[in-house]
Amino acid sequence: MTSALATTLDTRKQNAHLTFKHNRHHGRHGWLRLTPAYSVPLVSKILEGHNYAATVLDPFSGTGTTALCAAYAGLRGTGLEINPFLVWFSSVKFRQFSPATIEKTQALGTVIAAASSSEGIPSADPPPIHNIERWWNDQELHFLCRLKACILDAAEEGSDERNLLLVAFCRVVITLSNAAFNHQSMSFKSADTSPQLFEIKRDNADIFLKELSLVLSGAADNPQIEPTIVTGDARQPSRFLTDKFDMLITSPPYPNRMSYIRELRPYMYWLGFLTNGRDAGEHDWRAIGGTWGVATSRLAEWTPSDKAFIPPALKKSLAGISNPKNNNGTLLANYVAKYFEDTWLHLSDIGNVLNDDAKVHYVVGNSTFYGTLLPVEQIFQVMLQEAGFHDVEIVKIRKRNSKAELFEFDVTGAKGRPSKRSTVRESRRRSPRR
Ligand SMILES: C[S@@+](CC[C@H](N)C(=O)[O-])C[C@H]1O[C@@H](n2cnc3c(N)ncnc32)[C@H](O)[C@@H]1O
Repeated sequence: MTSALATTLDTRKQNAHLTFKHNRHHGRHGWLRLTPAYSVPLVSKILEGHNYAATVLDPFSGTGTTALCAAYAGLRGTGLEINPFLVWFSSVKFRQFSPATIEKTQALGTVIAAASSSEGIPSADPPPIHNIERWWNDQELHFLCRLKACILDAAEEGSDERNLLLVAFCRVVITLSNAAFNHQSMSFKSADTSPQLFEIKRDNADIFLKELSLVLSGAADNPQIEPTIVTGDARQPSRFLTDKFDMLITSPPYPNRMSYIRELRPYMYWLGFLTNGRDAGEHDWRAIGGTWGVATSRLAEWTPSDKAFIPPALKKSLAGISNPKNNNGTLLANYVAKYFEDTWLHLSDIGNVLNDDAKVHYVVGNSTFYGTLLPVEQIFQVMLQEAGFHDVEIVKIRKRNSKAELFEFDVTGAKGRPSKRSTVRESRRRSPRR
């Protein structure tokens, strides 16, 4: 089914061009670096194989890669996303901007850069991030507070100009921070306290102008059709989406990631989407697979509902993970069981927003917990079949890291009547050979 993908890949390799790394040099797709994003070539390759599709849905939209790729290809793309920052960010990324807007934003940016360098101007409050000094030193923090105040003062609330300036601001927030994004989530660089022969002074205003220029060059490359972003919970897609779609391409949360809030916190605090640590945990609890803050204590008390569907492969993994020898094994088994209960809620409703014959592509990665393999792709396959999809196949697309058993897969299937080929296969499977 996904021959276009499968035939061009050497799955023994990490194929970094299929990850977020590729997007950094890809216009709007490179505006913000988020490690769970997948790549433009991956989505484009999948779209190539289905040129009949006019409407494309991503129910776990993240940074909006799928919907924007679809729009650049002249298709109607829609994203569903639970995180309010990502919804705001996608709404900016999806906009068609006029040359006049870009010119005006550039002019405002020049004024803002000059003003934010001066110590005497009003400044915004620093965000209430725990241990903020680990993120930015005093000088950079003050600069960011002045820069934010200048942007809010110069550009009208809700305007395209303010939104573009805030995307550039988000880039500066990370450029000036001590956070190192060289891991699947992030860590902190240790501060260099050794004496310096020459003091190297960064020109922060200049950094802002460079980031703004990158954002504006992406903004000038308008998608043919503006995609749509919808705020909502993918566990009940039919509650939030009124249209029906020809194709679904998505990468749902990965069970080994444990939190999306962790990496998004700096942006969310600076832009006011988060005001305290408790809310960060509440956000993560609402998302699939979140464990931040309060979400962990809730997981400890969580029990499966009668809606759960537990295929044998999942049952076997849960038994391995909850082995009493494993420190926190019960908690992690709860985490995995809840992850798949939520996934099942999603898969059992998603058909309601798809047209007959719609194709689905779930890009997933397997995981290990205490040496027990969690075959995520196989569990998705069985769940999709149980939810009424046919021709469900697993295509291995890349090695994830140095661990020999970890891979990424595209689990594909179709809604509606099964093809003749699969009907024959299914009936063979059902009738035992004599
Ligand atoms: C692996 S990321 C998707 C990345 C995306 N493919 C991209 O290129 O940016 C999974 C996304 O699912 C979102 N998510 C988690 N639980 C959700 C839910 N219940 N409903 C909708 N979105 C959810 C997370 O916030 C995260 O952005």
